[in-house]
Amino acid sequence: MAMFTFLHEPAVLFNLKERYAAWMIYTYSGLFCVTVNPYKWLPVYNQEVVVAYRGKKRSEAPPHIFSISDNAYQYMLADRENQSILITGESGAGKTVNTKRVIQYFASIAAVPTGKKDAAAEKKGTLEDQIIQANPALEAFGNAKTIRNDNSSRFGKFIRIHFDNRGKLASADIETYLLEKSRVTYQLKAERDYHIFYQILSQAKPELLEMLLITNNPYDYAFISQGETTFECCCCC
Ligand SMILES: Nc1ncnc2c1ncn2[C@@H]1O[C@H](COP(=O)(O)OP(=O)(O)O)[C@@H](O)[C@H]1O
Ligand SMILES: [Mg+2]
Repeated sequence: MAMFTFLHEPAVLFNLKERYAAWMIYTYSGLFCVTVNPYKWLPVYNQEVVVAYRGKKRSEAPPHIFSISDNAYQYMLADRENQSILITGESGAGKTVNTKRVIQYFASIAAVPTGKKDAAAEKKGTLEDQIIQANPALEAFGNAKTIRNDNSSRFGKFIRIHFDNRGKLASADIETYLLEKSRVTYQLKAERDYHIFYQILSQAKPELLEMLLITNNPYDYAFISQGETTFECCCCC
């Protein structure tokens, strides 16, 4: 889009709208990749798509978050330099979802080939599984429903993924900061407290209620029942 002969807002919006009408949610504009949230799951993130973007130059395949990820990976290998991807946008724009797609992409292309493992390693799962599985736990304690987003991250995070010199996953760490603490004890009418409270009360693990000496009724607990109290599992993706 940055190459439009006459670059102005109506042209940009028209172009994004036309592409979105054909379910093309990603559009390049200069260095940026603009994303329109489709609010429905399109078949654009499965393994075949991962494979299709592997090793491709930006101009060789339609715009996609996987292409951004693959290019960062290739630059890292070629230049031996750290790379970062900045994901920004207003609440509900799709930052959390796209961040997870970046991690999914690295986890599938840079997975360490599975060799023979001892029982302890087997139980812990592969590194890529561990990285992906950290997310639901982080989201349970740090995400909540807001007016604009049912799964809004209420904390900032800096995710660092380390690769070894062959380009295989070596480790990952996440720094979190600025959790919205006030939500623990107060919520607006249309919002909710952190997912974890309602997940516990949902009785998916009934033994927890007994262990914690609590009931399954959120209205027994004033701190978590000032707004909405129902919980659909929307955030495990
Ligand atoms: N690429 C996408 N495909 C399908 N649904 C999406 C996509 N991006 C976002 N969504 C939907 O929009 C919601 C809000 O997106 P999210 O990434 O949480 O926004 P934020 O920018 O606030 O982090 C998600 O829970 C999901 O339902
Ligand atoms: Mg978010």
